[in-house]
Amino acid sequence: MKIAVVGKWGSGKSSISRLLTQYLLQEKQKVCAIDSDHNMDFTDLLGYEFNEESPSFRDLYDELFVFLDKDRRETKPKELIRENLWYSRFFLDTPDDFTKKVMIQQGENFKLATLALGTEDVMLGNSCAHGLSNPLKIYLSLLDEWKYTVVVDGVAGVDMINFGLYHACDYLIIVVEPSRNGIKVAKQIKNLCDISSVNYGLIVNKYQPNAYADQIYEEMGDKVIGSIAYDEGLFAYDYEKIAETVKKSIANIYMEMQIFKGFSLIERIRKLEELKGN
Ligand SMILES: Nc1ncnc2c1ncn2[C@@H]1O[C@H](COP(=O)(O)OP(=O)(O)OP(=O)(O)O)[C@@H](O)[C@H]1O
Ligand SMILES: [Mg+2]
Repeated sequence: MKIAVVGKWGSGKSSISRLLTQYLLQEKQKVCAIDSDHNMDFTDLLGYEFNEESPSFRDLYDELFVFLDKDRRETKPKELIRENLWYSRFFLDTPDDFTKKVMIQQGENFKLATLALGTEDVMLGNSCAHGLSNPLKIYLSLLDEWKYTVVVDGVAGVDMINFGLYHACDYLIIVVEPSRNGIKVAKQIKNLCDISSVNYGLIVNKYQPNAYADQIYEEMGDKVIGSIAYDEGLFAYDYEKIAETVKKSIANIYMEMQIFKGFSLIERIRKLEELKGN
């Protein structure tokens, strides 16, 4: 299963991605963590120190085209996805040559990969984040994760969803804070998911009983798959101190996603193409 965690800036995407990853590893499951955000918080929270030698989707973009036997100048990413959609081209369990290069093996059951948009040359360069995110969009679309759960920490807001970066994911977790702005952004993302056949559910994070929490349940309650209370351990990035109730919430949320039946990969990608007028 491929899961992406999206939401407003600061809503708790990286914290929840980290919690989910940790929970799955503790359950002895295989996890592939992917950091798609500029700030690379997820990479950091997972204890990996990114450096110049580290592999990244951004640096391996040309190699991805070579691996797929295409010329990057002549083939558009959406054509590459369309041509290969019926076959998986990348594999986590018995890794192909590209996967071997881009993944950082963190343990027997744990791989990590990053888009690496937070490096100085990207920040100061001219390339736009959409272009730089294309290799991950292609990879996720053509990836057979099989025994692995893929957890993608998303970029804040609607932009990358609109771009289709997470359309290959089987489930989007929309993280919503019980605040005015938190609800506004969650609704924008929810609407976009609704019109583009994306499977999703909401997590109310930093939950506290207030009028905004009531509003979330009144207006979007049917899509809420769980809540996580305000937690001092999470706030301090001290995972040893995280409350047992938070860990239980993550376990329940994972179960909810597992039993969810929604749109297939082909349906989702076709809908995206249709919306974009292709
Ligand atoms: N349930 C929680 N209880 C207390 N603090 C939390 C909780 N969830 C997240 N936080 C804190 O909120 C802040 C933002 O969290 P986090 O970095 O996970 O958000 P994000 O959505 O990934 O942010 P960004 O958009 O910058 O990537 C951090 O200080 C984090 O420790
Ligand atoms: Mg983050």
